[in-house]
Amino acid sequence: MGPESSEQTQEALILGFLADGGEDFTSGEALSSKLGLSRTAVWKHVEALRGKGYRIEAVPARGYRLVEVPDRLTPLELTPLLATHDLGHTIHFHETVGSTNELAFRLAHDGAEHGEVVVTEQQTAGKGRRGRAWVSPPGLNLYFSAILRPELPPQRAAELTLVAAVALTEVLRETGAEAFIKWPNDVQIEGRKVAGILTELSAEPERVHFVVLGVGVNLNAQEEHFPEELRATATSLALARGQRVPRALFAASLWNRLEEWLDLHVEMGFDAVRQRWKELSSTLGQDVLVRTDRREFRGLAEDIDTMGALLVRTEDGSVERVLAGDVERLRPRATSGS
Ligand code: BTN
Repeated sequence: MGPESSEQTQEALILGFLADGGEDFTSGEALSSKLGLSRTAVWKHVEALRGKGYRIEAVPARGYRLVEVPDRLTPLELTPLLATHDLGHTIHFHETVGSTNELAFRLAHDGAEHGEVVVTEQQTAGKGRRGRAWVSPPGLNLYFSAILRPELPPQRAAELTLVAAVALTEVLRETGAEAFIKWPNDVQIEGRKVAGILTELSAEPERVHFVVLGVGVNLNAQEEHFPEELRATATSLALARGQRVPRALFAASLWNRLEEWLDLHVEMGFDAVRQRWKELSSTLGQDVLVRTDRREFRGLAEDIDTMGALLVRTEDGSVERVLAGDVERLRPRATSGS
């Protein structure tokens, strides 16, 4: 390792420790003993990081605290903030791509490993569910696709979308936003969509080759960044909080949480995910209008089943099982999320 890369490693380690500390200060002494460096050397690294756009607060007798990271999503910003064992260990960063899902699918097809992530500043052909487009202006939001190689039969692959919705909603809530999941996997704040998930699969009848888990989160988009027809139904975290969102910190927290939930899904099975999904959802208990490719009907959204399908009690008392489609809430009921 040359002197330059060793400098970078030390800086990355310092950032990692500061990121772990969150809102708390990490003492200079703790940093110097963890890194085997003098206090002066630690201070020099902190100065170098500040020169690169990191805002690090230093308070005598308390230590250092990471306040802001440069608003970019390259491995340089993301890697030091990750606490994952696989997810994001290889990051394919692009200034601009058609769709991160498309690129991730090609990479996975060519042998990319579990946990590799494609992330971009901008998409020119971002894909949403059901053939829709995902508006992806540059430098404002988060667009990424994770390549997963789960040991699951194809019919269980859809569970991963719910895993992602749970992780996403938890991380949004930790920023103070009142986020809820709208079935199947839209994440909303105050009834407006802030994030979406598009899962694509390559499989044979008995075995999943890979899953591409694509996530788009509107972080710093302002109203003018949305096309007019979306302004009433879409929002961003910054619009909801009235405060700019540090994108790299958000992305890293999300990847860290996503991997925790992926691990939990492996260890405990889908039921743990399903229970949490139900706690975070605003759909259950609502009267809804269901639209699928083939039909439209009304009913009460009662539950999701062990495959994530929505169970809707219709007016004649029967229960309809909806595996894919959209729901629209008909009128508010007094339950959580309303
Ligand atoms: C939805 O319609 O709710 C799903 C939106 C998914 C958008 C993300 S952005 C990153 C990834 N690449 C895409 O082309 N789509 C997904």
